[in-house]
Amino acid sequence: MDAIADAASRPSFPIPENVFAERVVFVKHYTSRLFRFRITRPASFRFRSGEFVMIGLPNAEKPVFRAYSIASPAWDEEIEFFSIKVENGPLTEHLQKIVPGDIVLMRKKPTGTLVLDALTPGKRLYLFCTGTGVAPFASVIRDPETYEKFEEVYLVQTCREVAELAYAHELVDGIMEDPLVGEFAAGRLHLYATTTREPSPRMGRLTDLMRDGSLFEALGVPPINPETDRAMICGSMAMLNETKAILEGFGLEEGANNKPSSFVVERAFVG
Ligand code: A2P
Repeated sequence: MDAIADAASRPSFPIPENVFAERVVFVKHYTSRLFRFRITRPASFRFRSGEFVMIGLPNAEKPVFRAYSIASPAWDEEIEFFSIKVENGPLTEHLQKIVPGDIVLMRKKPTGTLVLDALTPGKRLYLFCTGTGVAPFASVIRDPETYEKFEEVYLVQTCREVAELAYAHELVDGIMEDPLVGEFAAGRLHLYATTTREPSPRMGRLTDLMRDGSLFEALGVPPINPETDRAMICGSMAMLNETKAILEGFGLEEGANNKPSSFVVERAFVG
């Protein structure tokens, strides 16, 4: 069994070559299940908005690494993550206790399919997510390139409870005030957030709202059309499969980095 170090702030084991050791600079807890944190960004670290990376803690000789979508855009000076707290989760049971000054390990190689390069040009970009699946889209909607490529951007998130939607609301409000992205996003970025287990102004799973057409009615747009619309999906396996089938029903096709098409999919990671 690996020895356990005292605290994340004191890496007592050698850091492998393929890993950055970065300081936590900010932590915010939203609910008993969700928190976000920011770490310093290594000068040599490059990624595309929407990609994910493996992160861990320096508390064991063989640290547990888990895939995390990078929630900050490619231009940001820091790296942001949005995380669930899994009870007895090998990483998150420790990660949820981090405070500024602690060390987080990040593997050097980012990857992922929720990138603009994997989509063919279009007019509207839909970003469909449940729970922490919003994380990669927090990156995509803060990237000016998104607004260079698409006229309209719709972030559609379903969560169980109202408090779980706070991150997305905060994010979109922040974007509107941001000197860099605000002017691109104004009037073009729209958030449609729904709950399923607590009353709120908008209720229901995004999948049901797509199927009965009420989502498009509420957004004031025509139903999804392969000529004009592109989408990214991030959520649980069940949500991905359902949303993918709905998009295929509208005539969209799944794309990849080496074969751009009209929608892309990635599982929201848990750890
Ligand atoms: P529900 O409350 O009806 O299960 P979780 O926290 O379990 O990951 O769920 C996050 C949100 O995703 C919940 O609001 C949940 O709704 C919703 N959800 C779960 N499965 C699906 C699915 N197959 N399609 C769309 N939304 C889903």
